[in-house]
Amino acid sequence: MSIKRLGIGFIGGGFITKFHIQSFIGVRNADILGVMSRTKASADESAALARKLNVGEAKAYDTITDMIADPNIHALWICSPNFTRIETMEEIVNAIEGGVSELIGVACEKPLGRNVAEAKKVLELAQRVNLLDGYLENQVFSPSVTRGKEIIWERAAKATGRPYLARTAEEHSGPHMPWFWEGELQGGGVLNDMMCHSVEEARFVLTEPGAPRESLKPVSVQAYASCLKWQQPKYADQLAESSDGKLDYRNRPSEDFARSLIEYETEDGQKLVVETTTSWCFVGAGLRLSMELFGPEYSMFMNTLDTDLKLFFSREVSGNQGEDMVEKQNAESGVMPVVSSEEEVYGYTAENRHMVESFLAGKRPEENFSDGVNVTELLMTAYMSAEQGKTIQFPPDNLDTYIPSVAKGEWNPKK
Ligand SMILES: NC(=O)c1ccc[n+]([C@@H]2O[C@H](COP(=O)([O-])OP(=O)(O)OC[C@H]3O[C@@H](n4cnc5c(N)ncnc54)[C@H](O)[C@@H]3O)[C@@H](O)[C@H]2O)c1
Repeated sequence: MSIKRLGIGFIGGGFITKFHIQSFIGVRNADILGVMSRTKASADESAALARKLNVGEAKAYDTITDMIADPNIHALWICSPNFTRIETMEEIVNAIEGGVSELIGVACEKPLGRNVAEAKKVLELAQRVNLLDGYLENQVFSPSVTRGKEIIWERAAKATGRPYLARTAEEHSGPHMPWFWEGELQGGGVLNDMMCHSVEEARFVLTEPGAPRESLKPVSVQAYASCLKWQQPKYADQLAESSDGKLDYRNRPSEDFARSLIEYETEDGQKLVVETTTSWCFVGAGLRLSMELFGPEYSMFMNTLDTDLKLFFSREVSGNQGEDMVEKQNAESGVMPVVSSEEEVYGYTAENRHMVESFLAGKRPEENFSDGVNVTELLMTAYMSAEQGKTIQFPPDNLDTYIPSVAKGEWNPKK
């Protein structure tokens, strides 16, 4: 199929779908034509946002099959919760095999699966019906990350040698919906939810521009996980209250803090190190993404809360709580950093532009489901290391069948 504009359908009409829709203001040759969600109200809301922003005449649908029966929809963006990946992919594949639709591609939010078996199944299903596949890891498209990588490799690495250490962090005060907090539904705690970004971003900046993923071989993973804040009685009660009693962090917590150290080896035997830290117990102005890169004669620093725009509100300024200054905002007074275009800064605009251009050109995106599988493999090895309290050589034996104890509802650092 050769087309000039890509018609897109979204699956899931929640938080991240709205972020993506906003970013399409900066993406050419694409129209958002449909949103399917579990609740019709959320599909209606997101479809209305797309129409309001003039990024497509989006309609709300009850099922994926109904949505992709529209021949103008050529690609899907999977933005529903982690626990629905397999049923979602199966419905897409069944519809294609049943002749309902001829899709070109599918893009899927992180994580590709809650564990390696699920991630591999998602990849296999996409390949079964020849779909081009894009893994939605926005941070490897963030302009500071891509521009910083370009300059570091072009100037400093060429002159003095490749970078050998990347430190990445993603932290905020906790997810916005109860299902993220439930180990079985989400696949884990903050390690699964946010370290996926940090490991992939670090791997990306350490990889020579143009070199394949295989040019860096993971050698070992060492990790640590704990529940520092949300298992405390006061905060465990808050979670129980906000989830109609479903979350029980006194007895079945998920990790709200995790770190990892991943050792890689280059093709010529040089050791490289990735150090990540992630938490749901960081209380600052809002979401904080940081990345540092070090080489023999240079360094690079990025922190999304070091914004060029700052506001000051005295104690006389009162107003409602909101997220109008930064994602996961925690306060509305004092000196406040403002990320003026979050969809741009966090990488969604460039990510979606790349996915659209790849699908229109009939090419597999550079960040694809194989990357999603690799990220899951690294995260599951990190869980093994944290559980066993030792460094794990990569790849460990039972990686494909391993489920972290937090994802089985069996983890409790207090016991
Ligand atoms: N890249 C990032 O930084 C980032 C940030 C947030 C979320 N995410 C990922 O995006 C996905 C969605 O997260 P969110 O924050 O939007 O969650 P959310 O809970 O805000 O929204 C999920 C939406 O999916 C709908 N839904 C539930 N079950 C469904 C099903 N079976 N089929 C279709 N729709 C269904 C819900 O009604 C809701 O509209 C998750 O996989 C999450 O990990 C990524």
